[in-house]
Amino acid sequence: MTQKAKGAKKAPADDTPIGPTGRPYQGFPTPPKLDSHGPARIIALCNQKGGVGKTTTTINLAAALASYGRKVLAVDFDPQGALSAGLGIPTHEGTTIYDLLLDSKRDVHEAIVSSRVDGLDVIPANIDLSAAEVHLVNEVAREMILARVLRKVSADYDVILIDCQPSLGLLTVNALTASHGVIIPLECEFFALRGVALLIETIDKVRDRLNPSIELDGVLATMYDSRTLHSREVLERVVDAFGDDVLETVIGRTVKFPDASVAGVPIISFAPEHPAAQAYLRLARELVARGDVA
Ligand SMILES: Nc1ncnc2c1ncn2[C@@H]1O[C@H](COP(=O)(O)OP(=O)(O)O)[C@@H](O)[C@H]1O
Ligand SMILES: [Mg+2]
Repeated sequence: MTQKAKGAKKAPADDTPIGPTGRPYQGFPTPPKLDSHGPARIIALCNQKGGVGKTTTTINLAAALASYGRKVLAVDFDPQGALSAGLGIPTHEGTTIYDLLLDSKRDVHEAIVSSRVDGLDVIPANIDLSAAEVHLVNEVAREMILARVLRKVSADYDVILIDCQPSLGLLTVNALTASHGVIIPLECEFFALRGVALLIETIDKVRDRLNPSIELDGVLATMYDSRTLHSREVLERVVDAFGDDVLETVIGRTVKFPDASVAGVPIISFAPEHPAAQAYLRLARELVARGDVA
């Protein structure tokens, strides 16, 4: 009996294996085709720490969902404009998210750009956005400005992903107020959990005061290296803290991401067979299976 239980934990590779989060590693089914599109579920990719994989996840999850026939809008909400750059979209000309925030009469469609990925559109950002907080601080309902912008295009998309900047300021509060769900990417490194309590507190405050229906869709472990004890220990601590809120899909550390960024395309276009591309496709399937995305 005991032996059997032990054996069940270490399932052989051709049975259901145990995933890095300690749960059985399921294969999520290919999402069924959608007959019609919209309204969108809006998801913010949020962590006030920089370099944890927010932008990489937004780009590649967006492309993965689009490859499953979802209509996706990715919103660059970071003045660094890394999402726009990562998708090869020039930001020095044309309308950006900043123009939409500042002028409510501006047509949102004016800012939407098609990416090279079929089914994936983008609202770009550039450094202008860094002035937005100062300009919006005296606006009426200043936390709801992005929500009002996105409402106008929600019917056209199945999912809208917002790539937040690394701060908990007014822009991020706008993103959380506009969203149905939040995904928190966490890098499997020292101090991964530092600051996360403050982030959760911010989400709770937004839920209390501005957006009662916002949900934590999941915590996504990124830059995981299964060969290092350190990475495994950090992931274990993340699972201790968040339990089933930790998404089963874990993104491995790979040098392919910087390469793909330079190419201005998602990794699933650049190297579709690469394990990291496969991981983001799996994440897309997991979110559909969880009901977080249509
Ligand atoms: N899984 C990964 N493995 C290795 N490098 C990664 C991975 N994900 C992201 N990166 C790299 O780490 C850096 C920070 O990632 P990024 O997505 O820009 O984080 P954030 O948007 O949270 O600041 C980028 O140079 C990116 O190419
Ligand atoms: Mg970023």
